Amino acid sequence: QIKAVLFDLDGVIVFTDRYHYLGWKKLADEHGWAFDEEVNNGCRGVPRMESLEVILRHNGVELPEAEKEELATRKNAYYVELLKDINEEDVYPGAVEFLKKIRATGVKTGLCSSSKNAPLVLESLGLSDYFDAVVTGADIKNAKPDPEIFLLGAEWVGVAPENCVVFEDAPSGVAGALAAGMACVGVGSPELLTEAPVTITDYSTIDIDALLNNQLTGSP
Ligand code: G6P
Ligand code: MG
Repeated sequence: QIKAVLFDLDGVIVFTDRYHYLGWKKLADEHGWAFDEEVNNGCRGVPRMESLEVILRHNGVELPEAEKEELATRKNAYYVELLKDINEEDVYPGAVEFLKKIRATGVKTGLCSSSKNAPLVLESLGLSDYFDAVVTGADIKNAKPDPEIFLLGAEWVGVAPENCVVFEDAPSGVAGALAAGMACVGVGSPELLTEAPVTITDYSTIDIDALLNNQLTGSP
């Protein structure tokens, strides 16, 4: 029986994955580095510095630590600038209705995002009150695919890991959820989320009774 639903943020509740992509793209273009949607898929759910490493590795570039820090800070500035314009249209279809319905059943909701900007995004869109706990990259030592962020989320909402289900758009996040011993729903394409037992692209298609009985199957 599911007693808590834990959500990733970027690409799961909000289309901010697009803005992370645009931030990295701007930085990459400035340096003439190759960066596309496919490379970006390797940055989903991956912390800021590690995402930079993914891009540098893809381009065979090695840089001193101080320069990497500066580049990551610059990307974050681009990202935060893009966040100034976010609005309801950036929220995933049906996500808020889904959160309301889940919470009305008494099931806990938690946010487990690697992003240190997660509280800012939630505040900007008035979504903070939909979560019983918010865990971010600032609260953990080991990033996804390590299960740490999900185990902490379960602890903070007071539910055992086996009674949690995680919604994730990143292969690393799906792996982390499964490593935490939790059920997992992939948000996005089954081709990218090959480890996810079930995937969705629209929250309104989810059978909530089936989800809470851990009987959701296929890709509705
Ligand atoms: C999420 C996103 C990643 C991002 C990471 C860190 O996991 O999916 O694309 O790199 O958060 O975000 P931050 O806002 O702290 O740089
Ligand atoms: Mg994500």
